[in-house]
Amino acid sequence: MSKLTVRDIDLKDKQVLVRADFNVPQDEQLNITDDARIRASLPTIRYILDSGARRVILMSHLGRPKGKIMEEYRLNSVARRLEQLLGQPVKKLKDCVGQKVKQEIDNAKEKIILLENLRFHPEEEKNDPKFASMIASLGEVFVNDAFGTAHRAHASTEGVTHFLQSVAGFLLDKEIRYLGEALKDPQRPFVVILGGGKVSDKINVIKNLLPQCDCLLIGGGMAYTFLLARGVKIGNSKLEKEKLDLAKEILNMALKTGKEIILPVDHVVVDKIEAGIAGIVVEGDIPDGKIAVDIGPRTIELFEGKLKGAKTVVWNGPLGIFEIDAFDNGTRRIAQFLSGLTAVTIIGGGDTAAAVAKFGLGDKMTHISTGGGASLEFLEGKVLPGIAALADKQ
Ligand code: 3PG
Repeated sequence: MSKLTVRDIDLKDKQVLVRADFNVPQDEQLNITDDARIRASLPTIRYILDSGARRVILMSHLGRPKGKIMEEYRLNSVARRLEQLLGQPVKKLKDCVGQKVKQEIDNAKEKIILLENLRFHPEEEKNDPKFASMIASLGEVFVNDAFGTAHRAHASTEGVTHFLQSVAGFLLDKEIRYLGEALKDPQRPFVVILGGGKVSDKINVIKNLLPQCDCLLIGGGMAYTFLLARGVKIGNSKLEKEKLDLAKEILNMALKTGKEIILPVDHVVVDKIEAGIAGIVVEGDIPDGKIAVDIGPRTIELFEGKLKGAKTVVWNGPLGIFEIDAFDNGTRRIAQFLSGLTAVTIIGGGDTAAAVAKFGLGDKMTHISTGGGASLEFLEGKVLPGIAALADKQ
């Protein structure tokens, strides 16, 4: 069922409490190195202000401080970046609950307030009802726009919804629509590309998507457990021995149900994973001692052939070690190919989003999820507690 959004409620003169996901990467000087998540929250914040709300109270976590105050996880850099992007002052508080926080909000001249990192309090991750009620007391209505944290049942995502009318922001709504529609009623042919290091991370995605898609392309480190399961030699490439039987089971399931699983047919291999080393291409079996770090040119062609004509593509997980330039060709070429397709192209968050950004192709995809773990759980078909807790549309 679809969820009420900010558009469905009256915001005039209200103090609006917004959960965003400002968990952004920072360098050692605490400069934000990728502000995509902050930018993605702007439409909701602007809409709330334009609708005549009295104030917007923003809250987020940053990192995993585990219930303790850690200076490097303060939200100060986020506040400064928000100010730049919104062109308005943002008052950053030193805590997120309590009498002092309430007073500071009441006395603030600024219309936008950013609370301190919620995870400085252990009660946040414990979804403590008292803590949730303290957060809730800071607003008159609650908007959840933190898709990246929607898989966590925390006080600021789930607990707070027991105390306030709770609706989705535009970002959360967009994520639910794109990821949800791709899974529910995809335009066909529907091709899924999975990559990344571990089979274990993607097992449930495969189980959920294999029955629904027309073709599944597998690359990245996870492909090698599947290749060994098919009897191909994999040298020293990534292997999850304990997942070998499961890989066989999945390949058999695909055979029985007439679904295509396409694995790499050639590979870029090296003796040692290191930047500055050029790999060589091998076809079929991988010689002893060699490690596969990228898909080869024939695999790229094979994957492109399967993607040509696709109407929906979901991609989660890079196809090689794209962080090292010499091994990013497969991931780059497939990203470029997708950018030229007339199809709905949905990119899972985390590494795949980072790869697409590295190649400067972000604006060529239909949707890039802001959730890493959250988009994975969504693709697994799980109910995300932060979404489930919001009010349903009638
Ligand atoms: C993320 O970066 O995936 C989200 O912000 C959630 O962070 P967490 O995994 O620390 O809960």
